[in-house]
Amino acid sequence: MNDTLIPERQASLAWSDALLLELDFMDDTHREFVDLLGAVETAGDDRLIDGFRALVDHTDEHFGGEDRWMAATQFAASNCHTTQHDVVMQVLREALKRGQAGDLALLRDLSRELGIWFTQHAQTMDAALALHLRQIGFDPATGIVRHPDALPEGEIHGCGGASCST
Ligand SMILES: [Fe+2]
Ligand SMILES: [Fe+2]
Repeated sequence: MNDTLIPERQASLAWSDALLLELDFMDDTHREFVDLLGAVETAGDDRLIDGFRALVDHTDEHFGGEDRWMAATQFAASNCHTTQHDVVMQVLREALKRGQAGDLALLRDLSRELGIWFTQHAQTMDAALALHLRQIGFDPATGIVRHPDALPEGEIHGCGGASCST
């Protein structure tokens, strides 16, 4: 068999300092996300569905955590960061269904797109959230805000950063 005819599957996204938010509990989750995405992208067809399902489950927890922290720290329920999470979860769940029905190519295409989306999301919305959580001294284990005086007066309707002000 000529190996050059079978290109090795490679992860399109590698962890790097460019993704660091300097908030351990978010960075740890994001490292896990990058690892799981890499596992999907390098999986053979026989492992693709299981890998993608693990990624979807992890992402559900990942987004759910960020959504809870936002809800607990004065973000409006309709804030655009949570809305973006909801849209991406819908796409991932639909893709998993279609993958289970046999459309593995869709899972491979979507996984590559997801890496591109994640980089942008982490560097904008998640970066703004990390800054907010650092400023208010938020402890995700207890929900305690150590610096409540740093919370804004009204609800936050955008994502809390200059990249997303509405
Ligand atoms: Fe995130
Ligand atoms: Fe996020």
